[in-house]
Amino acid sequence: NANTMWGGRFAAGPDAIMEAINASIGFDRRLAPQDIAGSRAHAAMLAACGIISDTDAEAIGKGLLTVLSEIETGDFPFSTALEDIHMNVESRLRELIGEPAGRLHTARSRNDQVAVDFRLWVRDQCDQVDVALEALQLSLLGQAEAGADWVMPGFTHLQTAQPVTWGHHMLAYVEMLARDRGRFADARKRMNLSPLGAAALAGTSFPINRHMTAEALGFDGPMANSLDAVSDRDFALEFLAAASICAMHLSRLAEELVIWSSAQFRFVKMSDKWSTGSSIMPQKRNPDAAELIRAKIGRIFGANVALMTVMKGLPLTYSKDMQEDKEQTFDAADSLMLALAAMAGMVADMTANRDVLKSAASSGFSTATDLADWLVRELGLPFREAHHVTGSLVALAESKGCDLPDLTLADMQSVHAGIRPDVFDVLGVENSVASRTSYGGTAPAQVRARIAGWKEVLT
Ligand code: ARG
Repeated sequence: NANTMWGGRFAAGPDAIMEAINASIGFDRRLAPQDIAGSRAHAAMLAACGIISDTDAEAIGKGLLTVLSEIETGDFPFSTALEDIHMNVESRLRELIGEPAGRLHTARSRNDQVAVDFRLWVRDQCDQVDVALEALQLSLLGQAEAGADWVMPGFTHLQTAQPVTWGHHMLAYVEMLARDRGRFADARKRMNLSPLGAAALAGTSFPINRHMTAEALGFDGPMANSLDAVSDRDFALEFLAAASICAMHLSRLAEELVIWSSAQFRFVKMSDKWSTGSSIMPQKRNPDAAELIRAKIGRIFGANVALMTVMKGLPLTYSKDMQEDKEQTFDAADSLMLALAAMAGMVADMTANRDVLKSAASSGFSTATDLADWLVRELGLPFREAHHVTGSLVALAESKGCDLPDLTLADMQSVHAGIRPDVFDVLGVENSVASRTSYGGTAPAQVRARIAGWKEVLT
């Protein structure tokens, strides 16, 4: 049978494969709440502008709420023949209220309808991601507070560089996630204009009020160009771009947790709740959640590239290619939300191994820079020369199989005669971190001040 929505000029229905490639109801049913909100706002506006009667608008508004509750309770008869959520909802509305249902689509097209639905959905995701990001920030802040002054090795090239504090390392991620929140907030602000009323592409001859529907749906106003309104998917791309950067941060943290929980590092112990065992190796305690976070990130990057690729060759305005915007975005959003929740739980429950952190910090000549700085400060050596002297001392310690603090004063003086016993004060890791008091530095005093600052911002 020909389609009920456009059957007028069609004698035959679609091929089964055509139906399969064309239908989006399998995934866009997730837009039901947004679709119904958009339609209710549209119907109320049509009545307020005298385009349909108040009685019809009321029947439509009530009928749509019935449809929504059917969908929510799982009683809704979704039909692939009806292609997408928009036609499924409208068709059911006609079954429920009859003729007035046919007036809902006045001065509207599925092109502006889907644009508004999807925008509302992505906007809502920005809000949800923000809440999830804050929860993860709080988990990290909790860790930072517990170990504000615990000393651990700081790395460059994954080689021991200088001692830092556990609190400082945790707070580094809190900063990154704050920038992520800023990116989602910016994207949300830019996407918060309504495409509804652009109709198919050119606007409409009906005397509609786009400001009214925009306001009813919580937008800051209507989009200014009808062609742009139905063509634009920047809002989803900005969400995916922000999601990708955020995901990259999560993946770096996940990578650190995988390394840190290994038997070679033992910096952290994951709680039982966030670990898995092995079916063959009884000693195993695997950080699967961290690994899966690291891996799920691929889907989010993939979605970003996929939608960029879908959009890049499309002439204005709508092309059916754009139906491929949704599955990718849904999957990326789901993956991000799951990764954020898992990371927040895992971080909150893990235990840092203070003693292991400290002994790791004390090895690998981690205070070599402190020694060089001492030579500059106390003996007035130029930094380059101090660097050279320290390098020779490291080589000496290496040849004796010991660390810098284990060298004797005589060893030291064999490399530079001016070295005094008080040099040993700066070779301890606690002293090293305590001395890094520059703004943003790793000194516990700095870290505690920053923790206090975050506690005021995060709720
Ligand atoms: N299911 C479609 C989509 O997701 C809705 C818009 C269809 N518009 C059209 N002119 N065929 O993009």
